[in-house]
Amino acid sequence: MGGKSDFLSIKELSFDEFHQLLGMTAEVKNEPERFTGSLQGKTLGLFFEKPSTRTRLSFEVGIYQLGGVGLYFSPQQLQLGRGETIADTARVLSRYLNALMARVFSHLTLEELARHGTIPVINGLSDRFHPCQGMADYFTIQEELGRLRGVKVCYIGDGNNVCHSLLLGGAKAGIDLRVVSPKECAPDSQVVNSALEDSSMSGAKITVTDRIEEGVKGAEVVYTDVWVSMGEEKERARKLNLLQPYQVNKKLMALAEPGALFMHCLPAHREEEVTSEVIDSEQSVVWNQAENRLHFQKALLIYLLKK
Ligand code: CP
Ligand code: NVA
Repeated sequence: MGGKSDFLSIKELSFDEFHQLLGMTAEVKNEPERFTGSLQGKTLGLFFEKPSTRTRLSFEVGIYQLGGVGLYFSPQQLQLGRGETIADTARVLSRYLNALMARVFSHLTLEELARHGTIPVINGLSDRFHPCQGMADYFTIQEELGRLRGVKVCYIGDGNNVCHSLLLGGAKAGIDLRVVSPKECAPDSQVVNSALEDSSMSGAKITVTDRIEEGVKGAEVVYTDVWVSMGEEKERARKLNLLQPYQVNKKLMALAEPGALFMHCLPAHREEEVTSEVIDSEQSVVWNQAENRLHFQKALLIYLLKK
């Protein structure tokens, strides 16, 4: 992370920072008492243009556990909703807060908040990326399998914000990452290229395909996300139709490595992208994933605010 310490995308992390943050997440999770008071006297803004269960609650609880204060607000509660600019809002928030987490429709809003603010800005999900999710997910994989390099991860479904962060994180971690989606729902080629740039350094292998068997075969982790992301509701019928064959069900899991982990960032739309049989199975680690958001974000806040 260069200059002011924002966290808008995993791409900004150096390889060292990526692994350091995963290491700190383990420390925060295993010895939470060591970090009590780390955010004493700090106030963090939590800005949400869209709904959230995990991101909001895990940030609020994490900040509380570290001795800081988290303030939630939405555009309608700010003068932003009445036309004050993003730039002016960022300038003012920087005079009160020590850091700002924002969940926005457009990634450009985050970039503008970061450009005009003087405090660290954290991406709590945009149309492009969900970096806190991606980091917590690679932490979960490391925790469950004991390693990251060379792990065969198959992301199947919509090539969306979560998929983009898994691509950028997979490239840092040296993952054998296969993204499987119909061509119309493939991840953005700029993001794929950006992941490929890092893969030569880490030994990651990045494959993007629409062929289910090619991607799922031998996978140690099968990951999916909703087919219709927040803000894309108009595309629902088209996406459901395109993605139907890519549902994660028992038959699809049988193509993966026996005992492969099932992952999902949640919320899940049961019987759409995943069947209840799979998400409720012993192979599913989705609740650990959700918990690990808390630990990663605590580590991130400690890291950003000590810089
Ligand atoms: N996974 C995730 O970010 O969930 P929320 O939308 O509930 O925050
Ligand atoms: N891709 C989903 C993730 C939700 C956490 C969305 O953007 O709605």
